[in-house]
Amino acid sequence: MKLLEGIKSRKSIRAFKTDPVPVETLMEILSVSVQAPSGVNLQPWEFFIVKGEALKDLKHASLEEHRLGKTPNPELPIGDIKGVSPVLEGVFRERQVELAKQMFGLLGISKHDKEGMEQWNERMVQFYNAPAVIIVVIDRTLQGLWPILDIGFVAQNIILAAQEYGLGSCVMRAIVDYPEQIRKIVGIPESKRIIIGIAIGYPDMNHPINRLKTKRERIDEIVTLVS
Ligand SMILES: Cc1cc2nc3c(=O)[nH]c(=O)nc-3n(C[C@H](O)[C@H](O)[C@H](O)COP(=O)(O)O)c2cc1C
Repeated sequence: MKLLEGIKSRKSIRAFKTDPVPVETLMEILSVSVQAPSGVNLQPWEFFIVKGEALKDLKHASLEEHRLGKTPNPELPIGDIKGVSPVLEGVFRERQVELAKQMFGLLGISKHDKEGMEQWNERMVQFYNAPAVIIVVIDRTLQGLWPILDIGFVAQNIILAAQEYGLGSCVMRAIVDYPEQIRKIVGIPESKRIIIGIAIGYPDMNHPINRLKTKRERIDEIVTLVS
């Protein structure tokens, strides 16, 4: 796949075939992805690939926490107040609402159908049943926001490179909402800070959710040319 084609066609995949993803494929993707830039060549990333029984346990634990109404507590703060999503305003709120409208529209779930929405949420907290999940962590000694920026670069490489292998992915905060459970099940030591998860697998293109193509702002609305 040509690079520009890959960048343009990439989108989040939220329904997967049950086919397992070979570990060798995931390792190849990661070995390419670490070509990402990082400040002072810090390479702050480390990865945990979670599959099989461990992934089953992780999904189960995540669903339990969700059903118990536990407040998500990712190690990268969501908003200013611990665990609470920031209140979005203006165009940002509009984009968030538009995404939800598009998603639930494709799923045939109306805004009054609380049960339907909750069923979808339960799929999300089980990482859309992806056959594999990559959890990206950084060493706790790395302070400040710059290493987090580096994680963004490597994550983007992962989701782009995955396409070359016919794989789809979804970067997901929902994977890392309950870090205590992740540490227990995956065995991530306290010395590592859990940043983000990526659900990965072969896309089920028959599922309506995978018809979702999110919108982007017109480029001339967001570019200022100064010369
Ligand atoms: C940091 C981050 C966290 C995300 N968390 C979730 C998530 O928990 N659940 C989900 O369905 N999508 C999640 N997404 C995917 C976004 O909703 C998606 O990237 C956005 O709507 C744009 O759509 P696209 O990726 O299809 O272009 C996340 C994306 C990012 C970058």
